[in-house]
Amino acid sequence: MARIGILTGGGDCPGLNAVIRAVVRKGVNQYGHAIVGFRDGWRGVLEGSVMELTRESTSGILPRGGTILRSSRTNPFKEERGVERVKESLSAERITALIAVGGEDTLGVAAKLEAEEVNVVGVPKTIDNDLNATDFTFGFHTAVQICTDAIDRLHTTSESHNRVIVLEVMGRNAGWIATYAGIAGGATTILVPERPFNIEVVCEHIRHRHKLGHKSTIVVVAEGARPLRENTDDSALSGAVEDEVTQEAPTDAFGHVRLGGIGVALEKQIEDRTGFETRVTILGHIQRGGTPTAFDRVLATRFGIAAIDAVEERDYGKMVALKGTEIVRVPIGDAVGTLKTLDPTLYETAEVFFG
Ligand code: F6P
Repeated sequence: MARIGILTGGGDCPGLNAVIRAVVRKGVNQYGHAIVGFRDGWRGVLEGSVMELTRESTSGILPRGGTILRSSRTNPFKEERGVERVKESLSAERITALIAVGGEDTLGVAAKLEAEEVNVVGVPKTIDNDLNATDFTFGFHTAVQICTDAIDRLHTTSESHNRVIVLEVMGRNAGWIATYAGIAGGATTILVPERPFNIEVVCEHIRHRHKLGHKSTIVVVAEGARPLRENTDDSALSGAVEDEVTQEAPTDAFGHVRLGGIGVALEKQIEDRTGFETRVTILGHIQRGGTPTAFDRVLATRFGIAAIDAVEERDYGKMVALKGTEIVRVPIGDAVGTLKTLDPTLYETAEVFFG
């Protein structure tokens, strides 16, 4: 009987528990392995904090958001003797292979550990959908549904009060959530990190819409969206781009700043420039919470099964991925390093409905 470890790292997202359940169900029932959960992402590996996962202890978790293993943004490569401690911990627990469920950061660590001869298999998760080498990550679909529901609700207040409503969504440096939710919710305009925006063009869309008699105007802005810098005479654009709006907080162990607040800046600018009453809603972590959609439950389950299959075949150093409708294996290194930014053709589809 082999002992297989599993951890969930980075920002939580709906579907993590579905992966854990799938790994346990097939790993224990079909392959006869013991599955050991490491708590709190890579921190649990560094500290040797483990829990045995059984069919009983993972029963009923499929629809639960978050992760029963909890998570953290710990980076072993930033810790003293981090790599040695990871190896010592895995050896103390007699772990033959580790399944790392995470995004760019967690899988980046997995890729580096693989080079240090740790047997790892990766599973891609993030609401941001910005991971290379997979068409979709689980968690994204649920986040998009939450944002779309929010836009539907905001439409009614926007219409009743003839207000512009700015909805700020997550996504870090990718505009996937904003664009999917904006298309699904019928946004007046969608602002994403990949396309620095001209605030005057945004205002023109809003004025145009009002001129046509529409009373409901929703602007969806991704937290990482950035405006083009305006010249001092406030007329022509220089082409330079402003910095992202960030919150006052230290960078995390992977060097990320904490984004957030562009919606507040836009609220003021839109109201000042157009004269239309404007309000902002920042959805924040609501986008990561609650039960996964059926799509994410199925994707997470398929990823979990594929991960334990990869372990069984000792096909280490791979990440399971969705390509079209198939689950495939790709080298973990292919998934990290560069981000999968928004497909320009998707944005072009969205643009047809602006204004
Ligand atoms: O990567 C997922 C994500 O929710 C991003 O969209 C967001 O920028 C970030 O995590 C927020 O991180 P935290 O939960 O650490 O504030």
